[in-house]
Order: sequence, then C-alpha cells, then structure tokens
Amino acid sequence: MAIISPSILSADFCNLESEFKKVKETGAKWLHVDCMDGAFVPNMSFGYAATKSIRNVTDMVLDVHMMIDRPIRYVDQFCEAGADYLTIHVEADTPENTAKAIEKIKSHGVKVGLSVKPKTPAEAVLPYIKDLDLILVMTVEPGFGNQKFMEDMMPKLKALREMINEHKPSCHLEVDGGINLETGDICKKNGADVLVSGSSYFKALDKIAFVKEIES
Ligand code: DX5
Ligand code: ZN
Repeated sequence: MAIISPSILSADFCNLESEFKKVKETGAKWLHVDCMDGAFVPNMSFGYAATKSIRNVTDMVLDVHMMIDRPIRYVDQFCEAGADYLTIHVEADTPENTAKAIEKIKSHGVKVGLSVKPKTPAEAVLPYIKDLDLILVMTVEPGFGNQKFMEDMMPKLKALREMINEHKPSCHLEVDGGINLETGDICKKNGADVLVSGSSYFKALDKIAFVKEIES
C-alpha cells in the first residue's frame, strides 16, 4: 500500500483552499508543498509564510519539499509554519550544516526528510539515515512540474530501499517528478512507498480512481 502526495505546484494558486478540499475528497491524505528559492533551483514558489497559511486551512499531512540553498537558515520557520514532514536537499549545504539542520527539524518534533537530485548517488544519505523519516528520490531535475520521468533513477531507488530496510525500516521512500499510474507502478516495484504527483494527478479526469489505483 503506497501513499500519494499530490503536488500543489499544479493546483490553481488563486483558489488553493478549495483545491485542498477537493484533493482531500479524492482520498489523498498528504499534500506536497514545493518551496523554491530561485537559487537552488531556477524557479520560485511557496515560502514559509505561504506554508503557514496553507496549514491554517487544511488538516492534511503537509509534506514540505525545500528546494532552497542552505536550508538551515529557514528550517525553524518552516517547522513553526506547521510542516509535518520537512525535506531538505543533501546538495544544498555542507555535511556539517546538513546534520545541524536535521537536528533542528527534529528538535521541533517535525519529521525529517532528505532528498537527492538525479546526479547524487544513494550513498549521500547514508551518514544521516538513522535520523531520517523520509528519503526523497528526485525522478526529474528539481524546479518544474510536468517533466519527463527518469527511469534510470530506478537502480538508485532500489539501492535506497535496501539501505532503508537495513538501517531504518520505518523511513519512507518517496519519489517526485513525472509520476503517473504507469511510472508510479515502476517506482513501487523498486521500493517507493510515497508517490508525489503533480500534473498527472491534477489532469486526471477521475481523481478518485487515480488515487485508488496509485495507492494500491
Ligand atoms: C519538481 C517538484 C515536483 C513537481 C512534480 O521540482 O519537486 O514536486 O511538482 O510535478 P510533476 O508530477 O508534474 O512532475
Ligand atoms: Zn517536490
């Protein structure tokens, strides 16, 4: 049984509150909030103030994906804004600061995620794995929705599933980028249990059926 985390990057930004209600009605329990700074990735989106407003109008699990340089500068604000899971990128700072940022997130009682971009090897998460609640494997270069799924990430996904089983079985393994029913299935077969889906979910005509099938 997998979990879908619809990415609100593909939602109607003018009507987010009603979008969240509709997402919940389709059976999804998580909401993926993409936060971009225009530096770590060449795009901008939500910040911690928007995350706080989102928290105020939904009780869904907020799965916050920080695509932000030196995230240690802002993890306190995102935790206080009400993130349930806060994911930072392993490439976004030095190993020392990454470890410190993880500690900060934990001190708020917020679940910690660590993400790897396509060119980053699985081993990059190993030094932190005991502290992680979620590992996010990017299946596109982060920054934009509606890109093509990179199937060549599957050996890395599989390797991370093995590492999780060995070192931290409770840790979720999430994929993000180009996920639809078909690519979601491939990811589940390679060990993913949380599937982010933006454009495919929002474009689906029967979203209830989409959620049921992708979570099966
Ligand atoms: C990309 C974001 C994704 C994006 C996924 O940088 O992290 O969460 O919204 O969108 P789709 O599912 O359209 O690839
Ligand atoms: Zn994302």
